[in-house]
Amino acid sequence: MSALVTGGAGFIGRHVVGELLDRGVAVRVLDDLSRARSGSLDAFSGRPGYLGLTQGDVADPAALRDGLMGVDTVYHLAAAVDVGASVHGPAQVVRANVLGTLNVLEAARTTGLRLVLVSTCHVYASASQPLDEHAVTAPASPYAASKLAADDLAAGYRRAFGLRQTIVRPFNVYGPWQRGDLEGGVVARFLQAALAGRALQVHGDGAQTRDFLFVDDAARGVVDAAAETAVGRTLNLATGRETSIRELAALIDDGAGYVRQVPHPHPQAEVERYLGNAARARELLDWRPRVTLPEGLARTRAWFAQLADR
Ligand SMILES: NC(=O)c1ccc[n+]([C@@H]2O[C@H](COP(=O)([O-])OP(=O)(O)OC[C@H]3O[C@@H](n4cnc5c(N)ncnc54)[C@H](O)[C@@H]3O)[C@@H](O)[C@H]2O)c1
Repeated sequence: MSALVTGGAGFIGRHVVGELLDRGVAVRVLDDLSRARSGSLDAFSGRPGYLGLTQGDVADPAALRDGLMGVDTVYHLAAAVDVGASVHGPAQVVRANVLGTLNVLEAARTTGLRLVLVSTCHVYASASQPLDEHAVTAPASPYAASKLAADDLAAGYRRAFGLRQTIVRPFNVYGPWQRGDLEGGVVARFLQAALAGRALQVHGDGAQTRDFLFVDDAARGVVDAAAETAVGRTLNLATGRETSIRELAALIDDGAGYVRQVPHPHPQAEVERYLGNAARARELLDWRPRVTLPEGLARTRAWFAQLADR
């Protein structure tokens, strides 16, 4: 088996690459390196099965063609993921996320590739119940809208062309290799601030909740999603536990007194509550999260600490 991981130099993507290599799958990465942390793929060079990086844009069909040579499965993670940037300049985000996905779908249609499309919980509206895959979708930002448009395109391709695809919707993923300069990367942002002795800036009152999923669990779920049992399905990956941003800040600050509330930079695109129901992934893939939030935070803190020490 061989796979292409688009966005494979990014935070979740490089863990997907590692998981695939661990399972003996040959892997190539397609990434334009627009947001990848430097050195994110270094650990894989020389590993058996690692086919290297094709540097290119998923919105460019020629780059995608090069990346796809000889592979049978595509894990599509490449995306412009900055919610704030999407509010201030939607066009770039739509190009990468919608046109990029269209190209991947076209390639899958014409060559019969198996596709795992990585979507997001951001397509859902805030809900009082844990969100399952039937929950109402209501994107609150151009980023979320572009991801939902990509999901809908994939669903249309499945109906029209019988594409063998699975849509995976991870909730809030955190862990080593995440960048700390995005709101979605709140764990990375708080940890970097805490390690540098800076204030942990909570946007708004911090009552908004998130379902935090450790990146190893997310990557395992993304790879598992290529199973035949999941063809044509949409699957949430979540822990079923919610933590407010205020609680998260307190956990990371651990009494140091550096937590500060600041005005939300774009309150109109904020979602009050994300809590996922991953019963379908459990049923179809036997997937369940293994890493608790305290353990995942400790592992992530240790990773950021060694980075700061270098
Ligand atoms: N981080 C989360 O909490 C989370 C949660 C749910 C879903 N997701 C989804 O998971 C995927 C990966 O997100 P991430 O958090 O790892 O973000 P990331 O920014 O770390 O990774 C995205 C990667 O895609 C690359 N990329 C961006 N535009 C590209 C383009 N046009 N062509 C080729 N490569 C391009 C970037 O350089 C980066 O390496 C995205 O599809 C995102 O929507 C993320």
